Amino acid sequence: MKVDILTLFPKMFENILGESMLKIAQKKSKLKIGVHNLRQWTSDRHRSADDRPYGGGSGMVMLVEPIQKALVSLLGKNEFKNIRSKKRAAKGTRVVLLTPKGDTFNQRNAKRFSKLRHLVLICGHYEGIDERVREFITDEVSIGDYILTGGEIPAMAVLDAVVRLIPGVLGDEGSLHCESFEKNLLEYPHYTRPRAFLGLRVPDVLLSGNHKKIASWRQKEAVKKTKEKRRDLMFDNSIK
Ligand code: ADE
Repeated sequence: MKVDILTLFPKMFENILGESMLKIAQKKSKLKIGVHNLRQWTSDRHRSADDRPYGGGSGMVMLVEPIQKALVSLLGKNEFKNIRSKKRAAKGTRVVLLTPKGDTFNQRNAKRFSKLRHLVLICGHYEGIDERVREFITDEVSIGDYILTGGEIPAMAVLDAVVRLIPGVLGDEGSLHCESFEKNLLEYPHYTRPRAFLGLRVPDVLLSGNHKKIASWRQKEAVKKTKEKRRDLMFDNSIK
């Protein structure tokens, strides 16, 4: 998969791309990431990427032109036209704007995005982004009902959630099938050594060696935890 990130703060991505699973995915050639400074597509001598809002009001608004130019350059003229006309949002390509006004990102979206050939993530900043950018994107994604300073941290969250689902990225693919949000449940509790810690004991069933009993205990605990903490999940058809 190719992921292009459009941002005014490319340095924010330096560490995360060189560590852990994102580093492994690139090493295994499952992932190619381009982090692009939007200022390279600005046209004035100050390399401005924002301006004051028409109609007045506080804060600055991100310009549409650098984003449009960046997309033409990264997608090519034809693919850009497809997205703009919305007739055929080029199969295998998505252009995603990170914004608190977007649809809330979930595991189902992560699975869908993990099957793409090309994902472009646009990080908004300042007070907002010129509304006309919405003509050039396929999705608007929020990572939750709170306001961050910009779309960079949301882009990192989306990137991490998506890349770990690309086949061949995680060493143990089996772990994907029993993690939280699979089968509309939170994951069962985990324990490791020691068997007792400050009087807190590992449940006997996990030490029994009886795999059937362990599986049934885990299922019961997953249901119990979900009922306690996220009852809504059990009735959510959108996850899978
Ligand atoms: N930009 C600022 N806040 C955001 C959020 N919650 N999700 C996505 N992008 C954002």
